[in-house]
Amino acid sequence: MFVLAHLSDPHLGPLPRARMFDLASKRVLGYINWQRSRRAVHRIDVLEALTRDVLAQAPDHVAVTGDLVNIALAAEFTQARVWLASLGSPRDVTLVPGNHDAYVRSALRQHRLLWGDYMREDDSLATLDQVDFPFVRKRGPLALVGLSSAIPTAPFMATGRLGPVQLGRLADILAALGAEGLFRVVLIHHPPLSAPAHRFKWLTDAGELRAVLTQAGAELVIHGHDHVRSLVWLDGRDGRIPAMGVPSASAAPVEGRRAHQRAAYNLYRIVRASDRWSFEAISRGFKDGGDGIVELERRTLS
Ligand SMILES: [Fe+2]
Ligand SMILES: [Fe+2]
Repeated sequence: MFVLAHLSDPHLGPLPRARMFDLASKRVLGYINWQRSRRAVHRIDVLEALTRDVLAQAPDHVAVTGDLVNIALAAEFTQARVWLASLGSPRDVTLVPGNHDAYVRSALRQHRLLWGDYMREDDSLATLDQVDFPFVRKRGPLALVGLSSAIPTAPFMATGRLGPVQLGRLADILAALGAEGLFRVVLIHHPPLSAPAHRFKWLTDAGELRAVLTQAGAELVIHGHDHVRSLVWLDGRDGRIPAMGVPSASAAPVEGRRAHQRAAYNLYRIVRASDRWSFEAISRGFKDGGDGIVELERRTLS
């Protein structure tokens, strides 16, 4: 059995002190938003408790699907690097970036330089600022395929985009990995399917991504961004593909916050049984009131 842990959207706080110069951009809106509401939602003690629970479960690998930071100040990237290291080495943890990690254009280079070894192929000879997507990492029976939907956007927008080059390469990669008989896990920050009301924050080429998945196949898609526990089924070449989202890993379990929005993460237990995959998803997180982390839900997915 191979156990993959999946957590997302830690939105590490508290925000470091910002200079006026740093806020002369979209960041000023994010800064006000953090001070007004988000700092009460994303709590470091909650994230630390969840991180400890992930480590106690001793998964074979950990996947993180982005939004490590909030407004992409330089000090936030350093802080996030320390948290990543607390989860494990780049060998044991795989990361893809989220829209907050690309909050302003300069952040694209920063997240690559500071976290690049968590989001690149094992034998890559490229320098960290040349990190390229999609990348593939093979762990046991798994092939982890990392995509980047992180693009800088206008104020009040949180959309993502893959683009035709990444999608074209993804189709070839999934087909080749499928031929090898590996369990293909696609990591992406934005969900592959969103309601029209989420137009301001959806993946603009989600339809094209779903077409690639339908044609080339995958065994599992994991994402963050919506900050809720979710499961949708996508059409796949060899059967339906589960696409699973997790809540923010730092969302305080305060009264009134709905169960599927409180901090939680997933464990996927994957077994090859004769000629087919058998796997289940276990959600672990905070119950109402927040005393301790427990198993919240267990689903058999195939
Ligand atoms: Fe997020
Ligand atoms: Fe996001």
